Amino acid sequence: MSLPFNFTFVPWFRSVAPYIHKFRNQTFVVGVCGEAIAAGKLPNLAQDLALIQSMGVKIVLVHGFRPQVNEQLKAKNHSPKYFKGIRITDEVSLDCAQEAAGQLRYEIEAAFSQGLPNTPMAGATVRVISGNFLTARPVGIVDGVDFQHSGVVRKIDTAGIMRSLDMGALVLMSPFGFSPTGEAFNLAMEEVATSVATALQADKLIFVTEVPGIATDITLPVSEDNPIDTELPLDSAEKMLLELPEANQPGDTAFYLQHCVKACKGGVERSHIIPYAVDGSILLEVYVHDGIGTMVVDEKLESLREASVDDVGGILQLIEPFEKDGTLVKRSRTEIERDVGLYTVIEHDGVIFACAALYTYPEARTAELAALTVSPDVQGQGDGDRVLKRIEQRAKLAGLDSIFVLTTRTMHWFIKRGFVQVDPDWLPDARKRKYNWDRKSQVLVKNIL
Ligand SMILES: CC(C)(COP(=O)(O)OP(=O)(O)OC[C@H]1O[C@@H](n2cnc3c(N)ncnc32)[C@H](O)[C@@H]1OP(=O)(O)O)[C@@H](O)C(=O)NCCC(=O)NCCS
Repeated sequence: MSLPFNFTFVPWFRSVAPYIHKFRNQTFVVGVCGEAIAAGKLPNLAQDLALIQSMGVKIVLVHGFRPQVNEQLKAKNHSPKYFKGIRITDEVSLDCAQEAAGQLRYEIEAAFSQGLPNTPMAGATVRVISGNFLTARPVGIVDGVDFQHSGVVRKIDTAGIMRSLDMGALVLMSPFGFSPTGEAFNLAMEEVATSVATALQADKLIFVTEVPGIATDITLPVSEDNPIDTELPLDSAEKMLLELPEANQPGDTAFYLQHCVKACKGGVERSHIIPYAVDGSILLEVYVHDGIGTMVVDEKLESLREASVDDVGGILQLIEPFEKDGTLVKRSRTEIERDVGLYTVIEHDGVIFACAALYTYPEARTAELAALTVSPDVQGQGDGDRVLKRIEQRAKLAGLDSIFVLTTRTMHWFIKRGFVQVDPDWLPDARKRKYNWDRKSQVLVKNIL
């Protein structure tokens, strides 16, 4: 007999819930490189963005068009020229860029208008708004090189974009801008996305790119020994950039990284570099714990800390499945609200992934470690150990000699970590009175002196 389909679906869907709640009403700026569209990834990307938008996220989409412009240039026997990662836009290139941008806008609007039954877009109504949200100025002459019609961002119409987002629309921007004299300028997608994210103080800037992310050693290719760094603190990212030669080609890993760093320094807390080559990469990055690409962050994302009243909901959500299957004793919301100061938690990107509480019995110079829980998504990565160590520190600071735990299923985990089994009679009197003799929990003690 096949397994009922809710066997995996329900726990999986629930595991995504904290992210859905967290990201509702947040603003994401998504920069998609032109290569992704040339590779035929647009329909799936539009489906994923429509889904994210339907969960309450405000989206600004900035498209790139490098290969599309180069294709047009090739047809005109004109070769593309770059300096320091920026295109030199002469008259011919400007024509090609305008044609490519026009064509791409139609394609993107069409992709968001799909709605065939039995596809992820069925029932989706995504209103796409694009417009002159960006004022540009010329790059000018740099190191003796005249960039002609290449521009940089001068001003972003933040109020206009916000109004469109508040209407429930997805804002689409091309890497094009106009000067107050009405002159058109070609810009780099990365620069536009970074400037928009900074101007809006977006919650996330996401680059969907031809690179898989940032390797631990950025100078070497990604491999098993040199994996993608899923989380890169801002200061490490800045150090990496100093070690690298200046990006000379758009699309270089360093080129994306320098824009992520710029966004982070401009107040966008999280900037991501993810590969378009992996189908659904944006969903994997946003709704899965470690994601798939690299996230540059302006803070320590995963923090082990004492809980506060804001964590009550997260703790309840974490322990509930273990209460249901009998691994943990049921605790009410009121009880957790009352005792939340006794909890230690591990938080990652705003979501609680592990917790434990410490109930002291000073008269017996001991304390109970209770409700130690690590989310099934991240078990086996040492988080249980980290929480246990912090709890031991708290107990030591309180001047206690030992900690104890009552468990029916996790004895071996504790024994491996220095706990020994004792008779329930060992328990401090106040705890013994509450001992549930029917549950037959084992009592394990660890000396912490
Ligand atoms: C017990 C628990 C907290 C461990 O968290 P964790 O982050 O996975 O722990 P760590 O990564 O530090 O340790 C993982 C190791 O513990 C082992 N382990 C996990 N659950 C275990 C159990 N019930 N009994 C024995 N060993 C266990 C894993 O196999 C792994 O072993 P390995 O390192 O040899 O591969 C977690 O499994 C959990 O939340 N369980 C459900 C709630 C629970 O039982 N809490 C204790 C209540 S008193």
